[in-house]
Amino acid sequence: MTTAILSALPEEQGGLVQALQAPECITHAGRSFWRGRLLGQPVLLALSGIGKVAAATTATLLAERFGVARIVFTGVAGGLGDGVQVGDVVVAQDFLQHDMDASPIFPRWEVPGYGLARMPCDAALTTMLFEAANAYLTSDRAGFDPKNPVIAHRHPARAHQGLIVSGDRFVSTSAESAALRQALGAAGHQVLAVEMEGAAVAQVCRDYGLPFAAVRTISDRADDSAHVDFPHFVRHVASRYADHIIQGL
Ligand code: ADE
Repeated sequence: MTTAILSALPEEQGGLVQALQAPECITHAGRSFWRGRLLGQPVLLALSGIGKVAAATTATLLAERFGVARIVFTGVAGGLGDGVQVGDVVVAQDFLQHDMDASPIFPRWEVPGYGLARMPCDAALTTMLFEAANAYLTSDRAGFDPKNPVIAHRHPARAHQGLIVSGDRFVSTSAESAALRQALGAAGHQVLAVEMEGAAVAQVCRDYGLPFAAVRTISDRADDSAHVDFPHFVRHVASRYADHIIQGL
């Protein structure tokens, strides 16, 4: 039973490729897939690239060509919920495409043909990731880092569980993130974080009946400084998380 561990960017994969036992690299459709074992378990590591189409293509390949039994996404996201700060970890309970709008034919955000806007994640996998995230964040390995200006003010970092939204936009103004939070909140969707792939993977996994879960570390607040915070976090901090959180699988 192979678990696929999917990320958009190499930095989000952290040291997972280096930690693989008996690694084998397969190149297909412009993507590198690494097969091997992590802590004795068969895994396939994959990079999707950025955005929903790239993520859906990769998830489809993982299901069709590689026959994986489940998919876990690990990466970064912009914090939208109150109290969701840089350095915190968000585990998705469900995903919504914030740029899906086939109204007035279908309600805003509903995915046509599915009868729902929010695609739920696998409950058991999600619980495992949340417990692993909490264990990591409360351990001294994840402690306060005075040398790192991005997370220096965040001690202790927290783990959250809830709704993550995805869309083909890097949300980089306070006005846009406030509008998203407000519009979704008014419809009863309390959003924690925004990224660009998860909802697409959730939809593909639903089609194939594959368990799916996702864990995202907050790299920025999707606000006017997101264009500075995101690359800094990805370059200097993001790679620390994947190895620890994936140990919960
Ligand atoms: N991933 C990380 N930060 C993001 C942001 N602000 N918008 C979209 N995706 C992101």
